[in-house]
Formats: sequence, structure tokens, C-alpha cells
Amino acid sequence: MTKLLFFKVTSDQLLLCVFLSLLWGITDSTTAAGKTTVISSSSTSPATTSPTTTPPATKSPPENVKEVNVLGQSENNITLMWDKVNNISTYLLQYEGKGISKVENINSPDSEASVTHEVSSLTAGNKYNFTLFTVFEEVNSTGYMFQAVTAPRNTDVFEAIKQNETSITLQWNKVNEILNYILSSNGREINVTASEGHEQVSHTVPGLTNGTKYDFILFTVFENVSSSGVTRTAATVPSKVTSVSVTERSTTSITLVSKVDVDKDWSYLFQMNEESVPLLPNRATGVVSHRFTSLQPGRAYPFSVITQFFELNSTAYEDYTVTRIVCASVQWHVTNSSIQGMVEGLFTNATAKYESQEHVSPGSPNVSFTGLYPGATYELHLWYENNSKHLNQCEHSQTIIPLRLHARCENWDAGYSVRIVWDEPQSVWTAVEVNVMGKSHKKVNNGENYTILSGSLPAKHYEVSLTSLSGTGKGSEQRSEPYVFSCATDPRGVIAGSVFAVLLFVVLVCLIVFILLKRPDIIRRKKVHSKPPYKKTISVAKFPDHFYQLSGDDNRGFSQEYESLISVGTEQTRKEAVLPENKARNRFNNVLPYDWCRVKLTTSNPNSTSDYINASYMPGYNSNREYIATQGPLPSTVNDFWRMIWEQKVKGIVMVTNCTEGGRTKCEQYWPAKSDPCPYGELTVTMTSEQQEPNWTLREFRVKHSKTSEERTVKHFHFTAWPDHGVPQGTEVLIQFRGLVRQHIQREGAGAPTVVHCRYRTSACLVSGPEPSLDTFIWKPH
Ligand SMILES: *[C@@H]1O[C@H](CO)[C@@H](O)[C@H](O)[C@H]1NC(C)=O
Ligand SMILES: *[C@@H]1O[C@H](CO)[C@@H](O)[C@H](O)[C@H]1NC(C)=O
Ligand SMILES: *[C@@H]1O[C@H](CO)[C@@H](O)[C@H](O)[C@H]1NC(C)=O
Ligand SMILES: *[C@@H]1O[C@H](CO)[C@@H](O)[C@H](O)[C@H]1NC(C)=O
Ligand SMILES: *[C@@H]1O[C@H](CO)[C@@H](O)[C@H](O)[C@H]1NC(C)=O
Ligand SMILES: *[C@@H]1O[C@H](CO)[C@@H](O)[C@H](O)[C@H]1NC(C)=O
Ligand SMILES: *[C@@H]1O[C@H](CO)[C@@H](O)[C@H](O)[C@H]1NC(C)=O
Ligand SMILES: *[C@@H]1O[C@H](CO)[C@@H](O)[C@H](O)[C@H]1NC(C)=O
Ligand SMILES: *[C@@H]1O[C@H](CO)[C@@H](O)[C@H](O)[C@H]1NC(C)=O
Ligand SMILES: *[C@@H]1O[C@H](CO)[C@@H](O)[C@H](O)[C@H]1NC(C)=O
Ligand SMILES: *[C@@H]1O[C@H](CO)[C@@H](O)[C@H](O)[C@H]1NC(C)=O
Ligand SMILES: *[C@@H]1O[C@H](CO)[C@@H](O)[C@H](O)[C@H]1NC(C)=O
Repeated sequence: MTKLLFFKVTSDQLLLCVFLSLLWGITDSTTAAGKTTVISSSSTSPATTSPTTTPPATKSPPENVKEVNVLGQSENNITLMWDKVNNISTYLLQYEGKGISKVENINSPDSEASVTHEVSSLTAGNKYNFTLFTVFEEVNSTGYMFQAVTAPRNTDVFEAIKQNETSITLQWNKVNEILNYILSSNGREINVTASEGHEQVSHTVPGLTNGTKYDFILFTVFENVSSSGVTRTAATVPSKVTSVSVTERSTTSITLVSKVDVDKDWSYLFQMNEESVPLLPNRATGVVSHRFTSLQPGRAYPFSVITQFFELNSTAYEDYTVTRIVCASVQWHVTNSSIQGMVEGLFTNATAKYESQEHVSPGSPNVSFTGLYPGATYELHLWYENNSKHLNQCEHSQTIIPLRLHARCENWDAGYSVRIVWDEPQSVWTAVEVNVMGKSHKKVNNGENYTILSGSLPAKHYEVSLTSLSGTGKGSEQRSEPYVFSCATDPRGVIAGSVFAVLLFVVLVCLIVFILLKRPDIIRRKKVHSKPPYKKTISVAKFPDHFYQLSGDDNRGFSQEYESLISVGTEQTRKEAVLPENKARNRFNNVLPYDWCRVKLTTSNPNSTSDYINASYMPGYNSNREYIATQGPLPSTVNDFWRMIWEQKVKGIVMVTNCTEGGRTKCEQYWPAKSDPCPYGELTVTMTSEQQEPNWTLREFRVKHSKTSEERTVKHFHFTAWPDHGVPQGTEVLIQFRGLVRQHIQREGAGAPTVVHCRYRTSACLVSGPEPSLDTFIWKPH
């Protein structure tokens, strides 16, 4: 406005001057330039110079520059540029601000049309007032005024003070109370306006990605001019691992594995048992893992995994796990129904499993299972429950003690072997160990229920012990308590020998009696002299030899043997036999039973005499009453004879005589001749079979008690080959006959005595014999 006004005034004055010069006839010719300059200079101070007083040569002030551009600024300098005015090269720049005031002369090279000038040594972030004068021939123009600012300082502190997964909070110090800042990151700019009063400015950048690095540039802004900018790199917090699995657990080590994103530049810090291990993931497998060792068994170990990035820690993934327990080193106490043990280490629960049975013991250190199946092998498991996960703390196979087997002996192989049979126990067992007389005999596997103990001797006692075993494999085998029992071998071989010996003695004695009666001369020739009682045992095997020895020289041996027996038993009483009422019941008054071993009949009435019968018990192997030696019944004693058979439960009668010899009755036929029943007192006897052989006749009687209707079978062995006079020629027939009798006794058992009678009744009693296997007899015919 002023310029325009000034220009207007100038042009008016110009017109006036032209008019005056024309008026006053000044037609002096000057240069166009000089004219212009003059005009210009005259016009520079229209107010101060009066047109009348100022000489025409006075220079007019040059023009001001039209415009000044600020090309740029820094903290200390400002670069200005302007176009020259009328080709003038000299300028004067005056500026002031923030306590300074300066004037600069500027001489620009002539060649250039514009002037570029840098004002330096300024202070940052300040506004300056500039006046630019155009100087022409030492005349100042009026001055062109403008303002310019220097760039502000950068902040001296710029940092990330806080970060989480999605944001970073930055903080910086204010610069000269400047409130405007630009925060740039990844090409994005944010204008931050600080609030007044605080020394520091903070700003949170949201919406970031976890575990990522960001570069931030902070510009201070002063009057639309930014500082050079200060850079800071910061990162967001990485996310924690999604899961950590325990891939291996032993008693002393644990392996942790986590699946991670390998594209991130993250590292991982595994911590357990006061050990921190920084790890990088395996790029090939995409996992990060570590095995912790030197741990203690059965303990809980908390662990944590921290993701690390740019010195930032993620929140920790925390969990714990437990080391396993050494089950095998536990002292397990087993019985036949329980397992017990003190277990050190962590577990919540213990189980014992056998087939479908499962037993549970609670988590106390004293593990106890009861009511188990004997001999079974249990799978023991200790469990630890962690967040509904069942951790197997240890497993162990434990066999418990099997039950004892109960066994018994059975006769086998005529006493030369024993069969040991055991009952199947309510127990698992794999084998049984058989010990005989303290020595290991045999180990029998399950599946058999007997073993044969061979090479034993008959009629002996063996101590047998059975131990059942269960469990296979070294150290796991369990043994029951031994079942010890005594095992008697079959005595029948010995009994048979005794029976035969007895029979032969009977025969022998019959023979001797015969000789004595028929050939008394043989005896009488010898002087009767007292000899020790005859006491001799003859084995079955040696009997034939012995027989032939005795029968040699006209049966002389028998006579001698008989003679030696004469004095035997004379000192023993026979009071009952000689009572007057019993006299008639004896066939021979010199063949009488001793009181102590006579057979007594039962008496229904107190009248005592009816208990007498001429019969004596004779000992055998099993008992002192294995045989009854009796006389051939008299007609008056036939009923008594049968009564005795019934009462003594006799099953066999051995008859070594014929009923008549040489026309004389030696024995009443006490059995029915035909198959018709025949009564003998209260008993009825029926002959059910008769089998005649050359040397003997075998009969079978059915004996029935009329009162009770009880029926029994009695065998009759009738040796018929006895010659009328003398003794049989050989032993063969006798031995065969003995075999028959022996078979019968064996079949029927030795429960009842067997009745023997021959031509003459003999009186025989056991004298002594501490050893049960020896039968010692003294024979005394009277
Ligand atoms: C002007 O400032 C800039 C940037 O700060 C610098 O490079 C330059 O040297 C300064 N000039 C002078 C004359 O100081
Ligand atoms: C300015 O002066 C220079 C030499 O001093 C000259 O070459 C140039 O032509 C002049 N420019 C004008 C517009 O007068
Ligand atoms: C600059 O000029 C303005 C007026 O244009 C004035 O208000 C101010 O005080 C001046 N600054 C200085 C430092 O002289
Ligand atoms: C031009 O101006 C400056 C600053 O104001 C002054 O120092 C100088 O004397 C002036 N020159 C003339 C010829 O007026
Ligand atoms: C991160 O920090 C910001 C600001 O402090 C907050 O608003 C945000 O909820 C935080 N985010 C998480 C995931 O903690
Ligand atoms: C920040 O301020 C500048 C001027 O100072 C303006 O041009 C720009 O648009 C602003 N940006 C935002 C995001 O407000
Ligand atoms: C972390 O960032 C990834 C992308 O890089 C994203 O998939 C994940 O969900 C983020 N995790 C959290 C906890 O925000
Ligand atoms: C900054 O620039 C904007 C336009 O870009 C303008 O409107 C404003 O007045 C300027 N501020 C200053 C202080 O020069
Ligand atoms: C990160 O965690 C480790 C281990 O806990 C610790 O030593 C370190 O100081 C933590 N760093 C930060 C920045 O918290
Ligand atoms: C014991 O453990 C078994 C298997 O882990 C589980 O089924 C049972 O419920 C547990 N019993 C007790 C009493 O904890
Ligand atoms: C089982 O064991 C108990 C105690 O150890 C014992 O008394 C019992 O006789 C045994 N039972 C059998 C059948 O072995
Ligand atoms: C022995 O086993 C046989 C079959 O193998 C069986 O018939 C018999 O009864 C068993 N004896 C005992 C005593 O268990």
C-alpha cells in the first residue's frame, strides 16, 4: 500500500519535474541511465528532501528487494536467497533476535542474478527479525523486513520406557518449551502435542505386533520447522510359548520341548532347578528343547520358559513336572496275600494289577496291597496326577508267595516207589520243588500233580518236603513255606513175607506135631534137654532151602526143630482152657491157648464160660492179631467157630488139613456141603462157589446174620494135598497156595484176622520183637 502510494507520488512528481524543466528551458542532455538513476535517487527521499533544496545530482535510494526466500535452516544458520534489484550487488542485512543484533554486508558476484546468503552462528529454535537493505553508491534502500527461524534442537533424551505385546511407550525431554513434535515410524507420522508444564513428553504407540522391532524418529517442530530428527529403535514384548511338553521323564532327567515360530528372531530361556538355559530354536525341527539332568528321583520340578527378544522377556510359561521313582529299589515285603513297601518320592496313587483285578493304594509313602491272589505276579504302578494327566511314576512286576501245596503219599510199585500227589492249591504256582530227606529230589512244573519217588525201600518212613514256587526269572521267584510230611512206603512186601512165614511155620508145626505123634521114637531117641527157646526168622526166598534142609534124612530137621520148641511157653498160663466146662471144647487136651492171647467170644449172658474157644491170636506185621490159629472145630464147637468168624470179621479161612485121615475125623466139616443155606446158631452159611484144584479147593461162603440180616463173604482156602502121613514132597505147591492166600489178604486189607487151622491146633503167641519189620514167634505145641 505504501509502496503503491509511494509509486503514485513519485509518478506525480515526475510529471511535475518534466513540466518544470520544460518551463525553465533545461534541455541538457544526460545518459538514460543517469537520468533514471537521478529520477530514482530523487525519488528515494521525497519527504526529507525538498525539491527546491535538493540538487538534481543527489542520488536517489535504490529499490528494496522484492522478496527474500528462506532456502533452508539448520540449528545455527539460515540460508536466504533473493533476486538482485537493478543489477545491484551490494546489500546490507541487519538481523536481531534472542539478544543478538547484527549487520552484515553482502557483496554478491556480479555474474549472478540472485544472491544466496547463509546467516550463521545463530541459536537453534529462534525467530529472527531481518531487514535487508539494497545499497547503491552508499545509499541505503528503505529496507525489506522479514522473519526467519532456525531449526529447533533434537531432544537430548528419547527412549522407550515401557512396552508390552502390542504397544511401546516412548518418552523424551521437551526442547525449549516446544510443544509440537512429530513421531515417525515405518513412514507413518504422528503429530504429538505436549502438554505444558511437564519436563517430559511421553507417547504410547499402539497397534503393534508382538516381538517386533520398530524404528522411531522424533522431530522437534518449531514454527513449522522440524529438527533433524533423533532415531530410537524399540521392540514389543514377544508372546509366550503356547505350550511346553515333557517328552522324557526319568528318575534323574526331564526333557522339555516347545514348538515355536522359527521365523522370529526370538530366543528362549528354559529354567528349572535353579538352572537357566538360553536356547535358540532348531530351524529344521521347529522346536526348542532342553534336557535337564542331575535331578533327584520322585521330586516335583517347577519350570518356566521365557521368550526373549531385544532384551525383553515375555511372560513366563510356567508349569511343573515330577521325576520318576525307582520302584525296583524299593524293599517290597511280600506274603502270600499282600505286598508292602515304603516308597520315597512323589506319587498320588499306586495300583497293583493281576489279570482283571486291580487294587489301589492311596498316595501315602507306605504302599500296601492286601487280599491279593497268592503266587500271582502283580504289575505295580505308581501314578502321579497332574492337571488330570496321569504320570506313570514307575512300574514293577512283583510275584507274591504262593500257597503251600498239601500233599500225600500213595503206595506205588509194591513199596519200592512212592507216589507223592498234591492238591491243586488256590494259588498261582509255576513249579514245585520236592525234597526228600533234606535233599533236593526234583522240580516239577505246574501241569502235573504228582511225582514218583523211586528207589525207596518198602516199609520205611521218608521225610518229604514240598515247596511251591511262583514267578520266573532271577530274583522274582517266590517260594512258599515248605509242606513237610512223613511218607511211609508200602509194607505189603514185608507183610506178604510175614504171612508166608507164618503159613509155613504153621505147616511146619503141623508137620512136627505129626511126626511127634506118629514117630515118637524120633523124639524119644533124643534126650530132652533144655535149650534156649527157638527163635528164628526165615525169609521167603530162603524158605525152600530151609525146607529141604529140614526134610532131609527122613524129616530129621523138622523133628529137631520141633524138639527145640517143646520147652517154649510152658511157663505161661492156660487156666481158662482147663476149666471143667471148657474141657469138652478142646479137640486135644494138650493143645490149649494161653490165657493172654486166646480169642474171646462175646458173651450175651454173664455166665462167663461161653466166651471160650480153642483159638489164639497170632501176630503179623501190621498187628498182634493178624491171624487166629485155631483147632479143627468139634461138632460141639462148630457154632462157636462161626461166631468167632463173624465177631472177628474174618474174611478168609485157611485150612491145612483134610477132614478125615486114615478114617479118623481130624476136623468136623463145618461148612454146608451143598449150596443150600445151613444155620449155625444165629448165622446162616451158604456156599456160593466151590472150585476144586488138584492140591486145594477154594470155596466162598456167604454168611448172614439172622438178626441183622447183614451179609458177609468169607473165602475158604483148603489145602488138600497134605499126605495122610508125613509132609508134602516139595515147597512149590505150598508156595503157590501161599500166593493165593496172600493175594486175598492184600485185596481185602489187613483189617481183620485170617483164621488158620490144621490137623493139630497150635498155640502161638508173640513173645517179643521191638522192630516191627521182624516177626518173631515162639511155637509151642502141647
Ligand atoms: C550451517 O548449518 C549447516 C547445518 O547445520 C552446516 O552444515 C553448515 O556448516 C553451517 N554453515 C556455517 C557457515 O556454519
Ligand atoms: C548487469 O551488469 C552486467 C555487468 O556488470 C551486465 O553484463 C548485465 O547485462 C547487466 N544486466 C542488466 C539487466 O542491466
Ligand atoms: C521483531 O519485529 C516485531 C514486529 O514486526 C517485533 O514485535 C519484535 O519485537 C521484533 N523482535 C525483535 C527481537 O526485535
Ligand atoms: C545505511 O544503513 C545502515 C544501517 O542502518 C547505516 O549504518 C548506514 O550508515 C546507512 N548508510 C547511508 C549512506 O545512509
Ligand atoms: C499394552 O499397554 C497398553 C498401554 O499401556 C495397554 O493399553 C494395553 O492394554 C496393553 N496390552 C496388553 C496386551 O497388555
Ligand atoms: C501434522 O502437522 C502438520 C503441520 O504441522 C500437518 O501438515 C499434518 O497433516 C499433521 N499430521 C497429522 C497426522 O495430524
Ligand atoms: C503375536 O504375533 C503373532 C503374529 O506375528 C500373532 O499370530 C500372535 O497371535 C500374537 N500373539 C499374541 C499373544 O498377541
Ligand atoms: C505453518 O504452515 C502452515 C501451512 O503450511 C501455516 O498455515 C501456518 O501459519 C504456519 N505457521 C507458522 C508459525 O508459520
Ligand atoms: C529377563 O529374565 C531373566 C531371567 O529371569 C532376567 O535375568 C532378566 O533380567 C530379565 N530381563 C528383563 C529385561 O526383564
Ligand atoms: C488311582 O489311579 C488310577 C489310575 O490313574 C485312577 O483311575 C484312580 O481314580 C485313582 N484312585 C485314587 C483313589 O486316586
Ligand atoms: C500265608 O501266610 C501266612 C503268614 O505268612 C501263613 O500264616 C499262612 O500259613 C500262609 N498260608 C498258606 C496257605 O501258605
Ligand atoms: C491230578 O490230575 C488229574 C488230571 O490231570 C486229575 O484227574 C486228578 O484229579 C488230579 N489229582 C489231584 C489230587 O488233584
